[in-house]
Amino acid sequence: MIITNFKTYESATGESALRLAKIHQEVARETGADIQVAVQAVDLARISQELDIPVLAQHIDPVGFGGHTGHILPESVQTAGAAGTLLNHSERRLEREVLKASIQRAKELGLVTIVCAQDPEEGASFLEFDPDYIAVEPPELIGGDISVSTAQPEIIENAAKLIGSEKLLVGAGVKNGADVRLAIKLGAKGVLLASGVTKASDPKAVLMDLAGGLK
Ligand code: G3P
Repeated sequence: MIITNFKTYESATGESALRLAKIHQEVARETGADIQVAVQAVDLARISQELDIPVLAQHIDPVGFGGHTGHILPESVQTAGAAGTLLNHSERRLEREVLKASIQRAKELGLVTIVCAQDPEEGASFLEFDPDYIAVEPPELIGGDISVSTAQPEIIENAAKLIGSEKLLVGAGVKNGADVRLAIKLGAKGVLLASGVTKASDPKAVLMDLAGGLK
């Protein structure tokens, strides 16, 4: 599984988000790879309506209908077509109780949860909340040029032991098929990445290479 987090990159916002998501769909179709996109809340509906690719929110808040100005309502994300949501990304950290409640709300609606953790131990501590996936991303490697697979392979091995391969995604600095291949070999089910795709001059070529790493 490959998930591209569009974050708030300009190349992955609004019209550009739709264009980039379309490239993901093309690559998914051409390679048969499980490729998903985590997009900004305001881009969810359009991308879900126009494309046929799993679309995720980057965050939800543990609120229901009512007076919660400025929050991201899980029901709205679902109505907009999201299949699930990232939670607790390093750039959007949550208090443990808030995370627990957010996972609970997602579960009530059948939204897939991908909970981010900064290290294997923290990731394992989230198992009690029973998220669908746990994405381990060393914060110091996020947005950089060296992938977690090459810089800290022991983190992936350790995470696979503590969390189990079925639930484990890894990310930070993932840029090419070799990074993906190594992550899978070390025990991950897939990768979560951003800048390798969002900053690429030829995102389709990068995605084709990344998808090749899943084989
Ligand atoms: O959510 C993915 C992310 O934090 C990794 O970012 O740019 O290192 O692939 P990047």
